[in-house]
Amino acid sequence: MPPIGCGFKAAVIGCGSAGRGHAEKAQSLGLEVVGFGDQLEDAAERARTEFGGRYATTDAGRIMRDDSIDVVLIATHHDAHHPLAIAAAEAGKHILLEKPMCLTYAQAVEVAEAVEKAGVKCVINCKFRIAPAVRKVRQLLPRPRVSHGQLAMSESENIGNPWLWRADDGGGLLISTTVHTIDLLGYLMDDAADRVYAEGRVFGDNKGSEGYPDALVGTILWKNGGISTVISTDQGENPLASKWFLEIWDGERTAVLSAHMNRADFSGCDVGYVDARELPRETQDNAAMMVNLIEAIRTDGDTLCNARDGAHAVAICNALDAAARTGTPQTVQ
Ligand SMILES: NC(=O)c1ccc[n+]([C@@H]2O[C@H](COP(=O)([O-])OP(=O)(O)OC[C@H]3O[C@@H](n4cnc5c(N)ncnc54)[C@H](O)[C@@H]3O)[C@@H](O)[C@H]2O)c1
Repeated sequence: MPPIGCGFKAAVIGCGSAGRGHAEKAQSLGLEVVGFGDQLEDAAERARTEFGGRYATTDAGRIMRDDSIDVVLIATHHDAHHPLAIAAAEAGKHILLEKPMCLTYAQAVEVAEAVEKAGVKCVINCKFRIAPAVRKVRQLLPRPRVSHGQLAMSESENIGNPWLWRADDGGGLLISTTVHTIDLLGYLMDDAADRVYAEGRVFGDNKGSEGYPDALVGTILWKNGGISTVISTDQGENPLASKWFLEIWDGERTAVLSAHMNRADFSGCDVGYVDARELPRETQDNAAMMVNLIEAIRTDGDTLCNARDGAHAVAICNALDAAARTGTPQTVQ
């Protein structure tokens, strides 16, 4: 059988580490990567040289006007997700959009509306949704009551990305990175958030001037009565728990997700654990949001993290940030 992406043409916009990863993944799935766009000519040209392709450009409009392109892979700094995703949808392109979908919920809703109006497929790259261990948790604990999610990483991991701490194009640790955890909590609780509480601190002296917390502790109340806690910090990674860590309880069963979301350990279930690293290579390779996007295009189905899902995660992040800044609980939009 030909690879799933055969016959589709793609372009990457944002040719940094994530964008180049998308080019490599796209080629491995059989997509032809035609165009490389970046605000920096060098970055676009370097990627074109590395992966081949017809052109490199600093003009995203060239990609949008290119009728040969079916899929746009957007991996820029966060401020550009909003205008680029809207332009891609209006040009009739299917979209893989990096997380966070946008910096604000209002922007994310505009993207979702543009995607729905154009009838294109869009997947937000909240990639842990498709991780085999996560899918097993969702299957075995479909109605959790209580959960805890955390992102705990070392400060040095983001040293090469000072833009993450800028208001203009980054938005701080919570929306830049912990958005994965927030999205997973929503996915596993299978519910919409109602209200949040949070407190934040800034411990590091390398966090820019915006006051985004490098340690935030929050509470999320879900509409159906479930409750979650969340920790977002770059004050150190615990190798036992891993950078990404979740616990879920449903009153009878429990699940613990660790090892960078590769592993789920269960109690009260027939299954003791799932470890994705023990699964066949092909299963691991297919656990990717780009595969999910191509399947959605081919079957005219929905994606595993559509634009409304992405917008909801942004809404929760915005509310947690506001709660930490003001010291008052916030209603999630
Ligand atoms: N899903 C994941 O697990 C994951 C992992 C890493 C990064 N990311 C996301 O991928 C995106 C890119 O991150 P990165 O680590 O590759 O950053 P990076 O800084 O390495 O690369 C970003 C590139 O985008 C370009 N760019 C920025 N604004 C632009 C604009 N307006 N138009 C065109 N190009 C623009 C920059 O010049 C740069 O080359 C971010 O959204 C980030 O959060 C996701």
